[in-house]
Amino acid sequence: MRIPLIAGNWKMNTTLSEAIELVSQMRPELEKIGNVDRVICPPFVSLAALKELLEGSSIKLGAQNLYFETRGAYTGEISPLMLADLCDYVIIGHSERRQYFNESGELINKKVKAALKVGLTPVLCIGEGLAENEAGKTEAVLAAQLDSSSEREYYSGGLVLAYEPVWAIGTGKAASGEQANETIGFIRQHISRQHGQGTAQQVRILYGGSVTADNIAEFINQPEIDGALVGGASLKAGDFLSIVKQTSEVK
Ligand code: PGA
Repeated sequence: MRIPLIAGNWKMNTTLSEAIELVSQMRPELEKIGNVDRVICPPFVSLAALKELLEGSSIKLGAQNLYFETRGAYTGEISPLMLADLCDYVIIGHSERRQYFNESGELINKKVKAALKVGLTPVLCIGEGLAENEAGKTEAVLAAQLDSSSEREYYSGGLVLAYEPVWAIGTGKAASGEQANETIGFIRQHISRQHGQGTAQQVRILYGGSVTADNIAEFINQPEIDGALVGGASLKAGDFLSIVKQTSEVK
């Protein structure tokens, strides 16, 4: 049995005081919801304060990125070691990082490895662009992303995958539940071919891209989908709570 997971990716939103306010609003209800792993990924600068706020809570924190080196002359970067003290999860290879910061599969692979080494759970994002989707290249793109950025031992370390079609992110045009289920089924098959059936059955694969309180049920009712990576809707306390609640009821 794979435990469902809902992660909120706040992206570059919320000041420190807004972050504290949002978590304070959600905490009492979010705390009560069982059998779903709940993860909040605020900007780096809010992690320390939110860690304090969530002391003793079952709600987990995640970062949105990291650098793969432990320490040194990398001005502006944040290391896995620094994050290991502050949170449990880290989003890696988000399409916005691939697109705006030119992150390659090779770099993403190093980041995933570095995260696992310090005990962080990476949420590795993969997804095809609109042109690739329309050209029927979705499966080839996903297979290439998986092959370049993941290795067999990452799965036993607890790696989580997030399938986020780039055309669905922040656009309000989510994939349909069936579409997402089919593609995530393909991802699982690919992992099975590369690393065996056991590994494929155990890895949690989330859907991401315009998930809302109104459409979450469509995704979590699908057998291959283990939860969601939620952007915009995770910034509204009521919406995020509703997404987590619905997940807990269905799964
Ligand atoms: P969205 O973002 O829910 O706002 O589409 C999802 C993501 O980028 O992780």
